[in-house]
Amino acid sequence: MSTRILGIESSCDETAAAIVADGREILSSVVASQIDVHRKYGGVVPELASREHLRQIVPVVREAIAQAGMKLADVDAIAVTQGPGLVGALLVGITYGKTLAQALGKPLVAVNHLEGHVHAVFLEAHTAGRAVKLPAVCLIVSGGHTVLYEVKAEDPSMQDAGARLCYRKLGQTRDDAAGEAYDKVAKLLGLGYPGGAILDRLAAVSNGAAAPVKFGPTKMKGNALDFSFSGLKTAVLYHVREHPEYAEEIRAREEALQRGERKFEQLLSLCSPKTLALVREFQNAVVRDLVERTMTAAEKLEVESVLVSGGVAANSQLRATFEARARAAGIEVFFPSRALSTDNAAMIAAAAYSRFRAGTLADTSLNGYKPQCRSQPRSCLADS
Ligand code: KG4
Ligand code: ZN
Repeated sequence: MSTRILGIESSCDETAAAIVADGREILSSVVASQIDVHRKYGGVVPELASREHLRQIVPVVREAIAQAGMKLADVDAIAVTQGPGLVGALLVGITYGKTLAQALGKPLVAVNHLEGHVHAVFLEAHTAGRAVKLPAVCLIVSGGHTVLYEVKAEDPSMQDAGARLCYRKLGQTRDDAAGEAYDKVAKLLGLGYPGGAILDRLAAVSNGAAAPVKFGPTKMKGNALDFSFSGLKTAVLYHVREHPEYAEEIRAREEALQRGERKFEQLLSLCSPKTLALVREFQNAVVRDLVERTMTAAEKLEVESVLVSGGVAANSQLRATFEARARAAGIEVFFPSRALSTDNAAMIAAAAYSRFRAGTLADTSLNGYKPQCRSQPRSCLADS
């Protein structure tokens, strides 16, 4: 009989629930996104996020249970994201998870959100019939996080879904997360929120338009595996301010967005070749930085695999560049599918499995930890 864990995720702007069997088989996965609620503010508003989680949590969990063809009483354990995240948002999932566990008499497992992102890669690999060999380096890159870990099995002879993993933080962003930089650059160019997906597509159609500006590699003192994206974002801002010819098309795109015209084709028709080339140069700089630092770590540590997870892992150029660079280095690279890249609860249920098996359970004193805000990214994985 398999172990079926109900995962609950509410750390940011997605309310999600999923059932995962034995840490690898996704029986159901339901995600209610709040993007439409936050779009007009150009970012996640914490108080609105908490209220939306309150509205969504019960129907989302019910839907996950129904899609798996189960009853609540059938689950073997309940896993909740403990942090990092917006503390008010986390508390909704934690309180609901604790209450369910108490009412049903089921074990409760607390999961680190970043460990969830690592497990999203294992879930995808399992679905594709591939095995992730450890040790690995894992880049978690989203709107709230840009962090690089070394991932090993606690017992190298055990690499199945129930194996305990250990993590060592190698580097992290010192300022903005990569996805945050995408969102801020999209906003200043009048391309809406969130900005990653549209910038990705615009960069791909820039063709050979001459680069209006070149962004060099980010140089930093100290840890060479740290990241920094706020300087790049500011360089885009200064370039746009110094070139008044961008102003008119930015205004036209902002007006289009206000009319609800946010489709790719609609915005593309309002972008000059110069804007497309600017977006391409911004993306080149982000991708070069993420790939080079990650591959430097992978080669130095002589790992078997590179794992890339989080919303920005959906980026087409990032994927292609990692594939090419890793192939040349003889290292396998793994990404989750789009659905598993962004926040979801299947990754939380998967990450909970080894803890459940080891009897590492939470109780009713469980609380959210380390509020995370976008301008102050922190990671708790290495601290735990
Ligand atoms: O993991 P996620 O859903 O949520 C958190 O921020 O935790 O990631 C969302 C982020 C946003 O910043 C969004 O702009 C970015 O991922 N993103 C992308 C792409 N798709 C989403 N960034 C670059 N290229 C993409 N294709
Ligand atoms: Zn996340």
